Amino acid sequence: MLEGLAEPKLEVTESARAATPGSNGAGRYEEVPDVVMVMLGGDAGGGLDQLVRYSQGEPRPVLFALLPEESPNLIKQALRAGADETLFMPLHAGDTTRAMLKVSESRRRVEKQSGGNVISVMSLTGGVGVTSFTMNLALALRYRLERRVAVVDLDLQTGTLGVMLNVESENTLMALSGSDKVIDSIQLEAILTKSPSGIYVISAPKHVEQSEMVSESTVERVLDVMREMFDFVLVDCGNSLSGNVVAAWERSDRLFYLLDQSIAGSRCAFRFIEVFNRLGLPRIKPDFIMSRFMPNYTISAEQVSEALSRPIFAKIPRDDRVFERVELSGKDIWQSAPNSAVAKTFEEIAERLVERPMEVQKNGSAGGVVSRLVSAIVSRAKGANDVAR
Ligand SMILES: Nc1ncnc2c1ncn2[C@@H]1O[C@H](COP(=O)(O)OP(=O)(O)OP(=O)(O)O)[C@@H](O)[C@H]1O
Ligand SMILES: [Mg+2]
Repeated sequence: MLEGLAEPKLEVTESARAATPGSNGAGRYEEVPDVVMVMLGGDAGGGLDQLVRYSQGEPRPVLFALLPEESPNLIKQALRAGADETLFMPLHAGDTTRAMLKVSESRRRVEKQSGGNVISVMSLTGGVGVTSFTMNLALALRYRLERRVAVVDLDLQTGTLGVMLNVESENTLMALSGSDKVIDSIQLEAILTKSPSGIYVISAPKHVEQSEMVSESTVERVLDVMREMFDFVLVDCGNSLSGNVVAAWERSDRLFYLLDQSIAGSRCAFRFIEVFNRLGLPRIKPDFIMSRFMPNYTISAEQVSEALSRPIFAKIPRDDRVFERVELSGKDIWQSAPNSAVAKTFEEIAERLVERPMEVQKNGSAGGVVSRLVSAIVSRAKGANDVAR
């Protein structure tokens, strides 16, 4: 009967004896099944022990008790022993389908919510440290917290993230552009390049002109699949606004905006806040990072924070010596200066991210709408400029 069910697709295995997960009995499972059905006898007897044992196992499968008759007493005993669902023999296809679908649908919901965090990093100030921040936060999450981490280079014109992480990849985001491309974990694995540090990288297209070919829908689909594959996906959004960048924001659980202690930097941050508010993205609130922070500088972090009416989430100390060494030696901060204040700061930020994981994307959000709007406005503005010229 189970084999004959059209939905959900089941893989049925049979075990005559009590197979307790983790124990060394007849059927020690390599993998605990999603559902275990235990047949209870007329007087319940041995079957109840099995239910109890399964319900105490870790991880615990969903437990169905199969009862020989519709007796309230038997149902009660089965539920008390840990059964999540009771079905009656002989099994009825309709009831079994309903119970199985309930399991598969609730698992889908959990899987959706256990996906990783997508974090966008952005600034409208050029050269403020967006790429360094993206890379170092990824390294801290990887080295110190041993998370599965990937980075995506959406600074398509500059495309320096891969270089900074010492990867040279032939396959880039270009390979997935085009609306007809299927994007799943297999396609993605083909373009992911593992850096020596263990971080997976999706590089920007090799040639500047190819960057125009990467569309918002590619970005959306790539991030959706990557969320399922990694604990953290960090996106270098560079320093200009585009449909692709907003598509990444729409898919993000966090957005870090980098600024420095300068009038120009604060002004850019104002412009960013203004455009961000206008986009009306409901899911995220930007966190502001003070990059290359100098404690004794004339303009203090508090002044910047006050001017923006926004708190500063973290300050990355300026350390020219460490960053110079990293640039010249090709070794990252944890290889060349693991005890530096900069390394510690990134580790602290990584820990904060893990302690307070953000709520992940819920179904039914307005994903994609804003980014497409932005790219339509950007391309119209470009057209207008061409005409003007
Ligand atoms: N905390 C810091 N202390 C000292 N130097 C830093 C710090 N952070 C970044 N830098 C240096 O600043 C320069 C610019 O950094 P980075 O390339 O990360 O900025 P960016 O915002 O990505 O720039 P771009 O606009 O070119 O994409 C690099 O040479 C980097 O080594
Ligand atoms: Mg950069």
